[in-house]
Amino acid sequence: MAYLSTDKVEHHHHDVVIIGAGGAGMRCALQLAEAGYRVAVVSKVLPTRSHTVAAQGGMNAALGNIVSDHWHWHMYDTVKGSDYLGDQDAIEYMCRAAPQLVKELEHQGVPFSRNDDGKIYQRAFGGQSREFGEGGQAKRTCAAADRTGHAILHTMYQQNIRVGTHFYEEFFALNLIMEDGACHGVMAWDISKGEYHLFQAKAVILATGGAGRIFKTTTNAHICTGDGGALCLDAGLPIEDMEFFQFHPTGIAHVGPLISEAVRGEGGYLLNSEGERFMERYAPTAKDLASRDVVSRAIALEIREGRGCGPNKDFVLLKLDHLGEESILKKLPNIHELALRFAGVDCTKEPIPVQPTAHYTMGGIPTNRHTEVVTQNGDEENKVAGLFAIGEAACTSVHGANRLGGNSLLEIVVFGRACGLRVMKWLKEHRYHKTISPDAWQTGVERVERWLNSDKAESNIAEIRAEMQDMMQTHFSVYRTEEVMQEGVASIEALSKRMVDTHIQDKNRVFNTELVEALELENLMSLARATAASAAARKESRGAHARDDYPDRDDKIWMKHSLATVQGDTVEVNYKPVRTVPMTVESFPPKKRVY
Ligand code: FUM
Repeated sequence: MAYLSTDKVEHHHHDVVIIGAGGAGMRCALQLAEAGYRVAVVSKVLPTRSHTVAAQGGMNAALGNIVSDHWHWHMYDTVKGSDYLGDQDAIEYMCRAAPQLVKELEHQGVPFSRNDDGKIYQRAFGGQSREFGEGGQAKRTCAAADRTGHAILHTMYQQNIRVGTHFYEEFFALNLIMEDGACHGVMAWDISKGEYHLFQAKAVILATGGAGRIFKTTTNAHICTGDGGALCLDAGLPIEDMEFFQFHPTGIAHVGPLISEAVRGEGGYLLNSEGERFMERYAPTAKDLASRDVVSRAIALEIREGRGCGPNKDFVLLKLDHLGEESILKKLPNIHELALRFAGVDCTKEPIPVQPTAHYTMGGIPTNRHTEVVTQNGDEENKVAGLFAIGEAACTSVHGANRLGGNSLLEIVVFGRACGLRVMKWLKEHRYHKTISPDAWQTGVERVERWLNSDKAESNIAEIRAEMQDMMQTHFSVYRTEEVMQEGVASIEALSKRMVDTHIQDKNRVFNTELVEALELENLMSLARATAASAAARKESRGAHARDDYPDRDDKIWMKHSLATVQGDTVEVNYKPVRTVPMTVESFPPKKRVY
């Protein structure tokens, strides 16, 4: 049913539409706008509120400014960190490009912290080694104090203003315009005016960030609702590896905000209720700087075995006061402020209560290393014409089953640029907008009008969202079992059916934040369903997917990527091979992972 005539839908033509104004979207926009293309960035928030702003500790690149380093060691650490599920061609591409792109950011204006010799400051982060895992700790993470994402995002925004990128701020993407298997644009809702906009483009780039809000306790902002992945699922496309959701070891206990790995990189360490540095038992060499999956599993076990702190014994302590007030205020000022505000703790004097907290979506929209969205048909990989994905929204897959800290800011810049390069090639071959169907706007309009016309019904969106987040937290946390996950799948499926009986109270069109939350909840629900089904299907432990009932990694059967599709009441999970062959160097074959 059509609610509006086309004259109420504003029609735009751009060469490229990028959905999302985080670091990945803006790095890509910069590349394209600088080359003279007409680029639109459609963002549901003001660009500088995108979640890249929250990234703290830094960005990895083998600059070797403090101790010697090489991109090949970075590549090895990333493959090992991924628990051998990362695609090695993409990982090589990323690690090789890193040094050049950090220097480029510096020239674009990112205010990196400095060593005394004037070079970019680099700190240690988890899972970083030299000489293929045997040769000690690297210092590879380039930092702007503990506000590195903030510095990068603001620089990218300023550069985009310089080159004339068109920003459509506070526009919510409703659906992809897909015709004949190709993407021709996107329908969007102008949140501030309550109007519809149809963006036609020769290329559409999804850069919408992660989906941390499927969980109850998360470091992610409220805006992290996995919108790009949900747009793909709605269009019948699969999403990849959603069972691998990273729990950052040190979210502030009970509330979630991130306490950067930089704290441990600078010399902080974890303690249990017995005052023991327990990471020495789990990772004798790397200790508190083992990779995140290892540290999160260790904290979860300490808590499970009764060595947690506090009245409910449900958190551990992160001690950093020994670093000294001057050093903390210089290198970790944001941490100092966050601990004060959210835990009421002055970390120059007392330890911070922390626990593993949902942090990063390793899975996402499947792409090749050129950022083209791909589907799998048997052994064959097919590109979706006109559609690209980058950043946390995408699964390229450089992180595999577990991302190393500091590789996320790197990924957004490396693949933001790679996408720009590939899209320019695409635009040379596809010079004109396609004619699209005259009622291409209709699906998007219906998606909004269904909420604005919803009658008082059984539930409201806040209740459903809270139930979904509770279910995901309970059934798909750090440790998982068959029984608990199957219960979770059944609960999520039942909850998702209740969406048809859900209403919003506010029926205004202008700045209707309840409507935006309803649209976000639809997106979250699709992703939660895909995550639950993919997790329940994987019968092994690998990276962030740790099962009590299948404690070992099983490379014979499970060294493969999952691909989930959602169609009505059904979530289907299929698989595709891992790309184990790098671009120019030899492959790193799987071996036992020890830190
Ligand atoms: O701990 C942190 O600063 C987070 C960094 C990251 O997720 O890459």
